[in-house]
Amino acid sequence: MGASEFSMFEQCAIASGLLAQEQIDAARAGVRWSDENEPDPGGPPSDRRLADRLVEMNLLNAWQAKQLLDGRTKFNLGPYQIIDSIGQGGMGQVFKARHGKIGRVVAVKVLPHDKATPEAAANFTREIRALAGLDHPKLVAALDAGQDGSVLYLVTEYVPGMDLHKLVREGGPLDVRTAARIISQVAEGLQYAHAQGVVHRDVKPGNVLVSPDGEAKLSDLGLSGSLNEDAESDPRHGKIVGTADYLSPDQVRDPWNPTPGWDIYSLGCTLYYAVTGKVPFPGGTTADKARAHCELRPLDPRRLNPRLGADFVDVMADMMAKEPSQRIATAGEVIARMAPFPTPTPAARPDRPVVPPPIVAPRREDEDDSSSREMEIPTGVDAMKVLWPLTVFVLAPSALVGTIVLLWWLVWNVLD
Ligand SMILES: Nc1ncnc2c1ncn2[C@@H]1O[C@H](COP(=O)(O)OP(=O)(O)OP(=O)(O)O)[C@@H](O)[C@H]1O
Ligand SMILES: [Mg+2]
Repeated sequence: MGASEFSMFEQCAIASGLLAQEQIDAARAGVRWSDENEPDPGGPPSDRRLADRLVEMNLLNAWQAKQLLDGRTKFNLGPYQIIDSIGQGGMGQVFKARHGKIGRVVAVKVLPHDKATPEAAANFTREIRALAGLDHPKLVAALDAGQDGSVLYLVTEYVPGMDLHKLVREGGPLDVRTAARIISQVAEGLQYAHAQGVVHRDVKPGNVLVSPDGEAKLSDLGLSGSLNEDAESDPRHGKIVGTADYLSPDQVRDPWNPTPGWDIYSLGCTLYYAVTGKVPFPGGTTADKARAHCELRPLDPRRLNPRLGADFVDVMADMMAKEPSQRIATAGEVIARMAPFPTPTPAARPDRPVVPPPIVAPRREDEDDSSSREMEIPTGVDAMKVLWPLTVFVLAPSALVGTIVLLWWLVWNVLD
């Protein structure tokens, strides 16, 4: 068969190095023989059906098949063989890849051509440097960085599983113990980063990677800034660079002086999202959200998840205190405050669903006005919650039955 007799898909598949001719031939034969419902048209199968068959045979994954069908043949960046696309972030696309020689599976973050402005490239280089200097089991490790043609890429360890944002979006809010375990692990990573003089500045659920066994790691120190850094060398110095949903009021007011307190506040907002499935200030523009972080109280998380206890909500509120002096000061303190909510051991895990704890009464008005009171439940709402079922299901039927009995007695005794 001459080269011209091969379809575009087959030519791309061979050129990419992903498939050998024998594999394509086997798949082509499989398309004919496996298709019992349709008559064999005699000619070669369409590229789409051939690609589907190769995916069925586990010779390609769905992403690779699509790339080849679109005519793409380059599946490597430097020495890394791209296996799959795993995400798209603000900075660029993230791929799962394997080192050609060593075989280690890694994550490769790519800065696309159109975003390769001098500032973006500087930020990217910054991310690489910030990550490279840090080594902690709760921080996604930087392994390598490189350039392939005009494409800049960063290689980090690959964390299987999902990021916390996706985890909650797909599975719903987490129970208190699971959330506490994840937040505590992220706090361990932050404690280490802060001790090295690095503030993350973009702590958010999308940057918390959770593996299937519940191990959590903090990624994307790309926005990080040194506590003692020379402002001139930081291209983002003085700009609000965090995600608006998780921005601390002090970061909004004074973006020139990063402090560990920024990360503690953002971690508090991340915890709020983890147990409620909602960000503290949904809706509105970025400016609205930034203003809300400075001025407004978030909705009491118990309104979104009535299983939350007052003690847990207090920790969250202390992490999200607007005034840095009233906020939990260190990541170490976050770990200590999360300790009373341990992950149950498998033996202790109940088979039946846990009975939700009673909604705890709000604090008394005479207690000191600390920011941990920001999340009180209005008493009136709770009272109504209890009263209306009582009225509908108990008092009203009782009154009706009483009336019927009285009428029956009157008819029987008086009219007799
Ligand atoms: N090391 C990794 N291992 C596994 N998956 C990863 C890794 N890094 C990123 N991902 C996945 O890729 C997604 C996109 O990551 P990326 O950091 O580019 O964007 P983001 O965090 O959503 O946004 P931003 O650019 O604002 O940080 C992540 O949400 C995560 O699901
Ligand atoms: Mg990220």
